[in-house]
Amino acid sequence: MILTGKAHLAGVVGWPISHSKSPRLHGYWLDKLGIDGAYLPLAIEPDNFETAMQGLMQAGFKGVNVTVPHKEAALQFCDEVDPLARRIGAVNTVVFKEGRSYGSNTDAFGFIENLRQNSDNLDFSAAKTVVLGAGGAARGVIAALQDAGVPEVVLVNRTKSRSEALAADLNIDHEGNVKVADWDARAEILAGANLLVNTTSLGMAGQPSLELDMASLPEKAVVTDIVYAPLITPLLEMARSRGNPIVDGLGMLLHQARPGFEVWFGQKPEVTSELREFVLNA
Ligand code: ATR
Repeated sequence: MILTGKAHLAGVVGWPISHSKSPRLHGYWLDKLGIDGAYLPLAIEPDNFETAMQGLMQAGFKGVNVTVPHKEAALQFCDEVDPLARRIGAVNTVVFKEGRSYGSNTDAFGFIENLRQNSDNLDFSAAKTVVLGAGGAARGVIAALQDAGVPEVVLVNRTKSRSEALAADLNIDHEGNVKVADWDARAEILAGANLLVNTTSLGMAGQPSLELDMASLPEKAVVTDIVYAPLITPLLEMARSRGNPIVDGLGMLLHQARPGFEVWFGQKPEVTSELREFVLNA
């Protein structure tokens, strides 16, 4: 990579940041498209977040992605925040322009685009969906599903008070289409579902697997996991072995990066199988 004085700069702000796949992902696109630009890992401690963001803006950065633990702080920081990011309560993409900062959340876009690209027959307008987990990731996934037009989401979480609070919040503009069920009833509620989404950390490398009896799940139901390490989680393995179509979580990471790249660097990037291999083989 050789930069000129006009190079466009962006990066990802997090703490820690060394595990992030985003620099490799954006670097692949910059290289492929021959762009005069760079995308850097930016390790910023929580106490320094605001000062660092001001500094990046003043240094002429076009913008940044924001990851753990700064997504809520980024929402507070930005001069303007789009309505979806506000509903999710987190900003993951910031654009700096003429001394002002604009925040959005592209995780929801990434989640939906990943399903669109990798599950041919999924019709969101008819997708009765079961979502496992009620953390920050579930909030983004459910808001995305609501915007995509799903008629019903059944939300199950170990801690029911958390799923109830999340459902109440996300139902405000959506006429109660998020329903809450007990964690112990998670096997039964799979009957009649077209889409099953795991947003819990269960199944992630180093975490216990998700215990789930899938006997009631229709065979055509699409099963997806937002965990991508391992790529095929025990849940996806179990779903695949009983014949369900599966979509792994890596595509969500790849697709959520597209809108920021396009604004910062001025070209539309593509998510291809070659990119997947490149990001996986880090
Ligand atoms: P994130 O922001 O990534 O969603 P989080 O807010 O820590 O992370 O949420 C993690 C999710 O995994 C929660 O839904 C959590 O359930 P609780 O709300 O009951 O904590 C779920 N989770 C984590 N470990 C779990 C376990 N052993 N059994 C069931 N659910 C678990």
